[in-house]
Amino acid sequence: MTGTSMLRLRRILWAGLVAAAFATAAYAQEDVRCLSCHGKPGFRKTLPSGQVLELFVDPNLLRLSVHKDKHCVDCHADVSEVPHPTTPQPVNCRRCHYNGNTSGAPQLAKYLEFERSVHGKALAAGNPKAPTCQDCHGGHFILPGSDLRSRVFRTNIPQVCGTCHLKIFAEYEASIHGKALAKGNPDAPVCTSCHGEHNIEKPEEKTSTVNPGHVANTCAKCHDKVVIMEKYGVNAEQVATYEESFHGIANEFGVLKAANCASCHTAHDILPPSDPLSSVNPANIPKTCGKCHPGANANFANGRIHIDAKDKSAGIVYWVALGFKILTLSTLAGLFIHIGLDLYRKIRNHQKAGGAKPGAPSSEIQP
Ligand code: HEC
Ligand code: HEC
Ligand code: HEC
Ligand code: HEC
Ligand code: HEC
Ligand code: HEC
Ligand code: HEC
Ligand code: HEC
Ligand code: HEC
Repeated sequence: MTGTSMLRLRRILWAGLVAAAFATAAYAQEDVRCLSCHGKPGFRKTLPSGQVLELFVDPNLLRLSVHKDKHCVDCHADVSEVPHPTTPQPVNCRRCHYNGNTSGAPQLAKYLEFERSVHGKALAAGNPKAPTCQDCHGGHFILPGSDLRSRVFRTNIPQVCGTCHLKIFAEYEASIHGKALAKGNPDAPVCTSCHGEHNIEKPEEKTSTVNPGHVANTCAKCHDKVVIMEKYGVNAEQVATYEESFHGIANEFGVLKAANCASCHTAHDILPPSDPLSSVNPANIPKTCGKCHPGANANFANGRIHIDAKDKSAGIVYWVALGFKILTLSTLAGLFIHIGLDLYRKIRNHQKAGGAKPGAPSSEIQP
């Protein structure tokens, strides 16, 4: 390398450094007004109620988040003067997060889904307990859902939903699914596996993933997959046997009062049948079936649920199914033999009469 090109390189490097320093200064200038108060560790205020309001903001967290290029007032848009005479309003994420935005925020169908969800509607109706975007995603340290540290990373979701749905969270944690998640099982369902994310709806809505008409499909996402279920020694036939059952057929025809998976297994309290606390443990069958079949006793479920007619252990059902199979097959076989013999007789008769070959012009229409 020659001396002049070395000098040029050094000059370029310096120019870069100076530009970077200016950029940082410009960026800091935007936010420094706010950080002069909010950047002081320990900056807090005790409200008249005695509650302590933490007012310290760690700008480094923001820099590590998806909003690393954003300034304080990009989100806290109502703070126009410093110091601000009034308490700033909660942030409205939709300022940037809508389809057609020019801020660089991703264009997603999720935004509209949220508006139509039970949460979006509750929020629009002014329900103060309804979740805003930041209730699920956080404020200054928002990360993509794929990041382990994100509030909406798969394993953190039950806790986030659980801050408002406390009782269900407790049930879920004690269930086979919750325990499996705690053990690090990558196939265990979390709240959003069954309910959706931004499109959560009340179970009564026809389009809800947990509407009685859709529950079987929702459980089937995992429970009819042999590759998933065989890892845990769980039978993957349960969905198919349900669909062939009286309840499953009734459900398919729109009789939504017929039992679906959750009517017998519960939705959040699901436990293996061997667990004495399980709704499908023999001891609890009278109560579980009794919700809809008054007078059901402990034997009520015997041989009636999840019967695979192709398996001998199904008892009478197996033999009846087998009987039907033999009957159907022998009837069909008889029919085919009959047709075959009939055809044979016709061909023989035809040949005896010295008939023309098929396709040759018929003698009757010859001039
Ligand atoms: C002179 C110090 C000072 C400066 C400068 C300042 N703030 Fe504040 N800020 C406060 C105090 C004190 C409170 C709490 C009292 C209140 O609610 O108004 C507060 C509250 C807030 C809150 C609401 C906290 C909550 O949850 O209720 C936000 C958001 C906020 N400031 C943002 C900003 C932004 C953005 C800037 C820069 C544009 C800024 N502040 C500049 C002193 C300051
Ligand atoms: C990506 C948007 C975003 C940016 C950028 C942002 N904030 Fe916030 N900030 C929030 C959200 C969301 C909350 C939670 C309360 C709410 O909903 O308003 C919050 C809360 C606060 C609070 C209340 C205390 C707390 O931590 O909950 C203060 C003070 C505050 N922000 C100051 C700042 C300052 C100063 C900056 C710039 C260094 C900044 N914010 C940048 C979104 C943002
Ligand atoms: C000033 C505009 C602005 C505001 C306000 C804003 N965002 Fe963003 N947001 C963006 C931009 C731009 C990106 C894309 C950043 C990137 O990809 O580098 C983004 C990215 C995201 C992502 C990650 C998307 C992905 O696919 O990885 C999430 C999640 C997110 N924002 C949530 C929020 C939430 C929640 C709020 C309210 C607290 C909010 N945003 C407020 C502009 C904004
Ligand atoms: C009830 C909780 C909840 C609410 C409320 C919510 N989100 Fe989400 N959001 C999620 C979950 C869960 C995901 C999926 C994360 C994943 O697995 O990728 C998600 C994903 C996203 C993504 C895609 C980026 C990513 O990380 O995959 C964006 C952007 C986003 N949300 C923005 C918003 C905005 C804007 C609002 C408010 C209009 C909002 N969210 C309200 C739970 C919520
Ligand atoms: C900030 C509190 C909050 C958070 C966080 C939250 N929810 Fe909700 N959720 C509500 C409120 C409030 C309602 C009631 C809305 C109504 O009935 O109008 C609701 C309603 C629901 C409903 C319908 C309930 C019914 O009775 O039909 C379901 C399902 C639901 N949420 C699931 C979830 C899931 C899953 C998550 C996590 C991804 C979650 N929620 C996070 C507050 C929250
Ligand atoms: C295995 C699937 C599944 C998982 C996981 C799941 N749910 Fe549900 N959830 C359902 C079904 C199905 C219903 C419909 C109600 C019923 O049939 O009992 C429901 C109903 C609800 C309801 C409304 C009705 C009620 O009981 O109040 C809320 C709220 C709810 N779930 C929240 C959650 C939360 C929060 C989590 C995570 C902690 C979660 N769910 C996890 C399947 C699931
Ligand atoms: C995202 C995948 C997934 C979904 C959705 C799902 N499950 Fe599961 N389920 C599992 C896994 C994985 C196990 C095994 C956990 C273990 O044994 O550690 C399991 C275990 C079970 C068990 C216990 C089986 C046994 O005998 O050990 C029952 C019962 C069950 N699930 C019922 C349901 C019902 C009912 C639904 C729908 C409301 C449902 N599951 C939805 C993944 C799922
Ligand atoms: C009418 C009540 C009822 C309905 C509906 C029902 N189950 Fe079951 N389920 C039971 C009973 C009782 C048992 C325990 C005895 C048995 O295995 O037949 C059981 C057992 C199971 C097991 C444990 C199997 C094993 O290998 O340990 C799973 C998993 C399961 N059901 C999933 C489902 C799924 C998924 C659906 C919906 C597609 C469903 N069940 C519908 C009553 C029901
Ligand atoms: C959510 C309500 C509900 C639950 C729970 C329920 N069933 Fe049913 N079941 C129905 C309905 C509705 C029908 C259809 C017509 C009728 O008999 O009322 C039906 C029909 C049946 C039939 C066929 C018709 C008959 O009466 O012989 C059997 C067998 C049956 N159920 C067994 C069970 C068993 C066993 C359980 C418990 C493991 C159970 N059911 C739980 C609602 C339910």
